[in-house]
Formats: sequence, structure tokens, C-alpha cells
Amino acid sequence: MSNKFANLDSASHDIEKRQAYVTEMFDALAPRYDRFNRWVSFKQDEAWRRQAIHLLGNRASGLVLDLAAGTGDLANAAILAGAEQVHVFDISHEMLKIAKKKLIGLDESVVGFEQGSANNLPFRDQSIDGIVSGFAMRNVFHFLDDVLAELHRVLKPGGKFAILELSRPQNKILNFGFKLHMQMVMPVIGRLATGSASPFGYLCKTTMTFLTPQAFCERLQKAGFIEVGWQSFLFGGIAIHHGKKACE
Ligand SMILES: C[S@@+](CC[C@H](N)C(=O)[O-])C[C@H]1O[C@@H](n2cnc3c(N)ncnc32)[C@H](O)[C@@H]1O
Repeated sequence: MSNKFANLDSASHDIEKRQAYVTEMFDALAPRYDRFNRWVSFKQDEAWRRQAIHLLGNRASGLVLDLAAGTGDLANAAILAGAEQVHVFDISHEMLKIAKKKLIGLDESVVGFEQGSANNLPFRDQSIDGIVSGFAMRNVFHFLDDVLAELHRVLKPGGKFAILELSRPQNKILNFGFKLHMQMVMPVIGRLATGSASPFGYLCKTTMTFLTPQAFCERLQKAGFIEVGWQSFLFGGIAIHHGKKACE
């Protein structure tokens, strides 16, 4: 079942079934998700998150949307960097429950929690200064262009985005090592951190079949974004895509 939804090359995804599978998987993973992230990245994800916020430039001090926020780590990083207000938006009720615990004590005027789907955002046109999103694009691949169109709609003119995602080293030898790591090491760390190895088959397959950074940039440009580019980390295993909406 998971392989059917994990292979992003296959065009035969039933959108509703894939989304139901993804939502159920993250609901189940939620209580152990943070531990997995820290273990598998050797805590480097915290630096990548800070860099994603940094790439928003002065837009990071306004209203920031953490899209498919999960447990809210990017939202938290945005608040620590001085964001005036953040929206923590995700489809998974269980993920949002953890995010609420993490961001407890913050005033409602500073942080809002919204449950919904990234292809239909409950925000006004041109109302958001900066958008960040971590490790989510593979999970909304079944309606990726709709999601990017929504990001473009809600962003203010001149607003910026930074999208953190797993990627693949471009170098063939590094890519071979990366693939081995994803297939052999990640499921072991995943099992130790979460008690189950099965979501990591999905993680590995979606990573190996996701768009190259160049191809993802083309999709971002097609959605109307400008000054699109990416920064690579971990020999190309991680990419932060960034860009902006044109000023009017
Ligand atoms: C790998 S987790 C990433 C969580 C967090 N952004 C991070 O950086 O750790 C992917 C998240 O995407 C969310 N998600 C999946 N499909 C979604 C959708 N259609 N709309 C909004 N969120 C979605 C999942 O619930 C999950 O929290």
C-alpha cells in the first residue's frame, strides 16, 4: 500500500486515497516525530530551520505561515527570530496537538493553529509576509501545483518563501551512498526512535522519486514566483528552496 503512494513517478495516484494514507501516517507518527527528526539529522535540522527563516529576510519579522507545520518547529524558529505572528497550519490533528504543547504560553495574537489542507488555505489573498515549510512537499505531491498556487495567492507582493525538503546528491557516487543510507540506516534509526520502520520505506521512496532541485524550481516559477533558487546541505541530501512573489 505505502509503496503505491510513495512512488512519486507513478501518475496513478488517487488524490483522496493518498491524502488519507498520508494524514493517517502522520497522525500515528506524531508523538515520536520530533525524536526521529533529531536522531536522523544528528540535530542538524535545527540549523536548517534557522537558515530557512533567515532566507525570509526582513519578511521574517511580520506574519509567517508554517505550512504543513507538523509539530511546529519552523514556527518556533520564526518566533525565536522575532516574527510578529505565526500561523501553524497542518492537516494532522495529532501533529497540531504536539505543536500546541510546544508553543504553550504564547498569546493567541502571536500564534494561531489551523487544521486544513495545503491546497485550500483559509487565509486571505496577499495577507502573509513569509512562508516556511519543512519536509512537506513530497507529502502533498498529489496536488503540488495547487499547493504552490495557494502559496502564491496568500503571499503579499514582495513576500518571501523558504521550503526545506529532502533531496538527492547530484554526484553519482554520493547519490549511491545516500541511497544506501536511506534504505539501510534510516529504517534502523526510525525503528529505534519510533518503534516502527514502515514509515521510513515511504520516506525513502518519496525522497528518491521527488523532483530534482532544478525541476522543483521550474514548478515554483510556473506558479509565478521569482528569484527562485536553492541552497544545498549534507552533500545535496537537503535543499532549501527560496524565492519571492513579485512586487506589484
Ligand atoms: C514530514 S512532516 C513535516 C513536519 C514539519 N513541517 C517539519 O518540518 O518537521 C509532513 C507534514 O505534512 C503534513 N501534511 C500532509 N499532507 C498535508 C496537507 N494536504 N495539508 C497540510 N499538511 C499536510 C503532515 O500532517 C505532516 O505534519
